[in-house]
Amino acid sequence: MSESLPEQSQQYSNQIIGSRIVHHKVISSTMTEAEQLANQDCDEGTVVLADNQISGRGRFNRDWISAPGKDLLVSIVLRPKLSQLRYVNMAATIAVADMAKNITEQSVSIKWPNDVRINGKKVAGILVESALDNSTLKHAIVGIGINVNSDPESDPNTGGNSTSLFMETGEEIPIKSVLDSIFSSMNELYIKILQGCSLTQMWAGNIDTIGEIINVKYGDSFVEGIARGVDPEGNLIVTKPDGSDITLVGGEVTLKDAFTGT
Ligand code: BTN
Repeated sequence: MSESLPEQSQQYSNQIIGSRIVHHKVISSTMTEAEQLANQDCDEGTVVLADNQISGRGRFNRDWISAPGKDLLVSIVLRPKLSQLRYVNMAATIAVADMAKNITEQSVSIKWPNDVRINGKKVAGILVESALDNSTLKHAIVGIGINVNSDPESDPNTGGNSTSLFMETGEEIPIKSVLDSIFSSMNELYIKILQGCSLTQMWAGNIDTIGEIINVKYGDSFVEGIARGVDPEGNLIVTKPDGSDITLVGGEVTLKDAFTGT
């Protein structure tokens, strides 16, 4: 790696994202530490970065497995309004997808609502956890896990439908360059969000799920249908075989992957 990751107290000046960096060699989960800092009223944009996680978590409390020192593991504390929260996941997925397109020059897309894929294989996952006080949003923690220099396909824990930036380019990628790229894009997008802009159109343009037949875990049952598009809030509109539509909210459903069945 040509450039090392930023150390504790270093920061990205003139940006909200990265206003303070807390870097750990090993941590339980960057989400947990970021939440603690948020509860202690840390500055907005504070970032917790780790080289390794012992208990990394994904959506629906799944484990998030990464290779020590080889992948990007980061959580960012933000304080948007509740009405802006839906766009925070969009900003993160767009920023990661743009970075992956620039680095790999491959076909990069978003699997609704928050996986980034290269040629259909997962390279990154985004997890947004938020805390409410009555109907006011206290904070949102945006967790981003990117397979940078690992070889996830060879790891039985991560399954056969994952990839990394290294696997797509054949070159070791400096994690700092990945971080710089996503922080800069996310910062621009987050400023748009705070100014009242919607990111739905930009985000929807990157979603590969639209037009696909999908299997959705919906409550306790599975529903099959065709993904028709997303509504202004970013919910997925799915037409069932009987012709009726259902609206799927990202935090509540999981799409079954055609390859792995997960
Ligand atoms: C998913 O695909 O389910 C989302 C995965 C999010 C993983 C990241 S890695 C950094 C941060 N810390 C965690 O424990 N999880 C997120």
